Amino acid sequence: MPGAWTATAPPTFDAAAFGEQHIARGIGRLTKHVFEEARGSFVTTDQGVRLLDMTSGIGVVNLGHCHPRVSAAAAAQCSKITHSQINIGYSAAQIALLRELLPILPHPTLDSVFLWNSGAEAIEAAVKLARAATKKPNVVVMQGGYHGRTNATASLTRSKTIYGEGHGPLMSGVFATAFPYYAQFGLPVDTPEEELVRLALLQLDMTLQQQTSPSDTAAILLEPVLGEGGYVPAPPAFLSGVRDICDKHGILLIIDEVQSGMGRTGNMFFIEQSGVRPDVLIFAKGIANGFPLSGIASSKELMDRQKPGSMGGTYAGNAVACAAAKAVIETFREDKILDNVAARSQQLFGFLTDLQNSGSKAGDLIEDVRGSGLMVGLQFKNPALQRDSSNSAAQQPQSQPQIAPQVVNECVERDMLLLSTSIFDVVRFIPPLTITEDELRMACGIFKESMEAVAERL
Ligand SMILES: Cc1ncc(COP(=O)(O)O)c(C=O)c1O
Repeated sequence: MPGAWTATAPPTFDAAAFGEQHIARGIGRLTKHVFEEARGSFVTTDQGVRLLDMTSGIGVVNLGHCHPRVSAAAAAQCSKITHSQINIGYSAAQIALLRELLPILPHPTLDSVFLWNSGAEAIEAAVKLARAATKKPNVVVMQGGYHGRTNATASLTRSKTIYGEGHGPLMSGVFATAFPYYAQFGLPVDTPEEELVRLALLQLDMTLQQQTSPSDTAAILLEPVLGEGGYVPAPPAFLSGVRDICDKHGILLIIDEVQSGMGRTGNMFFIEQSGVRPDVLIFAKGIANGFPLSGIASSKELMDRQKPGSMGGTYAGNAVACAAAKAVIETFREDKILDNVAARSQQLFGFLTDLQNSGSKAGDLIEDVRGSGLMVGLQFKNPALQRDSSNSAAQQPQSQPQIAPQVVNECVERDMLLLSTSIFDVVRFIPPLTITEDELRMACGIFKESMEAVAERL
C-alpha cells in the first residue's frame, strides 16, 4: 500500500561512508572519525567518542576549540554585519582588529596590513607584493619549507613532492636552498648548530651565485620553524645571517609564521626570539582560532608600492573572522596565555627528554626532541629515513616502515589525535595553548603507552 507506515527502524546513516563517497579523494586524512563538537582540548565524534586533541586542527585553535570569548565575539558580529567588502569601503571590524594586531607584530616597521582568508592566499599576496615592489621575478625558498597547496604555493613548497606531483606546470622563478637541519644534510643529530648554520648560509650564498642572481631575486621566503618539513626551529644565527644577505643584495625577507605564529612557540611570533626584522610577515591559522583569516604585514612604504586595485578578494578579511581575531588577541593579553605556554612547554619537554633518557625500549627509539613553546617535534632513530611523501599511513601501510605513523595510530586507538610530519620520521605536538597540566599529563601517558606498544612490536 503506498505510504504505508512500517515499524522498522530507519537505517542508520554512516557519515564517514558518505564522506568517502562524496568528498574529494585528494584530501589525505588521519582518521575516519566524523567530528561533531569540540571544546577546549577535546573533540567529540558523531559516535560519541571523545578525543584528546594534540593537533589543534594543525595549529589553528590555539585557544582551544570554541573558546567562549571568541565564539561570543563572532556570534555578536553575525548580527551586526557579516560581509563588509574591502574593495567597496573600509570594514569597521577590520579596523578594530588592526588596532589590536599592530602592537603585537614583531617589529614596529610592520605597520601596513593586507588581510585575506587562508595561509596559502597570504603567501601568494606576499610574493605578489615582493615582485611588484622590487620589480624582480625570483623567490628563494628553503628545502623542507611548506607554504600551501595552491598552484603558486605548491611551487614554493619543498617539504614533500606530493603537493605538486602530477600537477605541473608549477609557477616558475622559484629556487630552493638549504635549511640548517641535520637530517637534510645527512649529518648526525649532534652536529653543532654553528656547523649547520655555516653550511646553510654557504648554500644560500651559492644559490645566489649559481641559480638566481640577486638582481633577479625579489625575496627569500622561509618558515622560521619548519612545519611540514619536520618541526625544526631555525637558529637565530641563521636568521640573522639571512637578514644580512638580504640587506647586502636588496632582497626582501618574507617570514612565514602561518604555523609558528600566534603564541605557538612561546612568543607571539617566533622571529621575535632572534630579533630579526622581517620585510614581510605572514600570519594565518591561530589568528582567528578557527575562523578563516590570514594576512601579510610590511612597512607602509613597501606596501604602498602596489597600485590600488591590484590587491583584494571577495571575502578578504571577513568581518566575522576579524571580530573573532580581535577577541583572540584580547584573550592572549588578559588570560596571560603565554605564561601557560611556558609552563606546559617545560612540562612536555621534561617528559619527552626523560622518556628519551629512560633507558627503556621506547626511549631508545627517540633520536631528537626539539621545538619551541608548544610547537614540539620528536624524531625517531631510523636508518630508513625517507618515507613515502604522501604521508598517509592509512592508504599505503606497506610503504611505511617508519615509527611515527605507527605511534600516531596507537595514539588514535587510545583516543588521542597526534600528527606526524615531513619525509623524516617525526611526530609533532601542537596542543591548544590553553591545555591544562592534567590534560597534558594525560597526553604524555597516552604517548608513552603508544611508544611502548610500538617498541614491543619492533
Ligand atoms: C607554514 C605554513 N605556511 C602556509 C600554510 C598554508 O596555509 P593554508 O592551509 O591556510 O592555506 C601552512 C598550512 O599548514 C603552513 O603551515
